[in-house]
Amino acid sequence: MPTIVAEHVSKKIKHTDVLTDITYTFNEHYTYGLSGRNGSGKTMLIRALCGLIYINSGTIKVDGKVLHQDLSFPPSIGVIIEKTDLLSEYSAFTNLKILSKIKGITSDQEIKEAIDRVGLDPESKMPVRKFSLGMKQRLSIAQAIFEKPDILLLDEPTNAIDKKGVESVRNILLEEKKRGALIIIASHNQEDLTILADTILTMEGGRLVGNDQK
Ligand SMILES: Nc1ncnc2c1ncn2[C@@H]1O[C@H](COP(=O)(O)OP(=O)(O)OP(=O)(O)O)[C@@H](O)[C@H]1O
Ligand SMILES: [Mg+2]
Repeated sequence: MPTIVAEHVSKKIKHTDVLTDITYTFNEHYTYGLSGRNGSGKTMLIRALCGLIYINSGTIKVDGKVLHQDLSFPPSIGVIIEKTDLLSEYSAFTNLKILSKIKGITSDQEIKEAIDRVGLDPESKMPVRKFSLGMKQRLSIAQAIFEKPDILLLDEPTNAIDKKGVESVRNILLEEKKRGALIIIASHNQEDLTILADTILTMEGGRLVGNDQK
């Protein structure tokens, strides 16, 4: 099972420091909440941890392997980043089916269970372009969890979801944590962080400035 070790991670875009000297170890079975104002670097940190951006200095190791050196992308990871790309002409099931073909480890039944778990209809033929924002967000949660990844990186996974949906997403994430996943969740919803996170990390101006363990 996974750990992510970030050591002295810094990232500049043009002349702006968007991440500065971030050192932290993330462990399996734990959920980390990322908190901080708009522009504080939460999304950038999530992008860096899953290998979506190159960092200028420092290292990120996933299970001892250095990102962009030994690995381009962590092998077992589910990610939600802002606008997750979904294929808009296809149904929820077809979207996940296409993704699952990359690894071929998930059965149709498991795909349907994941769609059902987020409160969507696994038999529906409705194309994703007709989904509401909250429905798309539910599908992106299904997309992140359906292959039972070791690591889940979630950037504001519930901001468009209604109250009942938020509760079910929280339950899903608590179950994923119990399964052993390492979860990092960026959110402006303090209640999400209080309920889900074992540790709340606060970012300010690209730095990690606080670390509150429960
Ligand atoms: N494509 C980009 N080019 C240049 N600077 C960027 C780019 N994307 C983000 N930034 C800058 O990086 C910094 C961190 O942004 P980031 O998106 O990580 O913040 P955030 O904490 O996720 O904010 P929010 O709460 O609004 O989602 C900000 O100063 C932002 O202006
Ligand atoms: Mg963000």
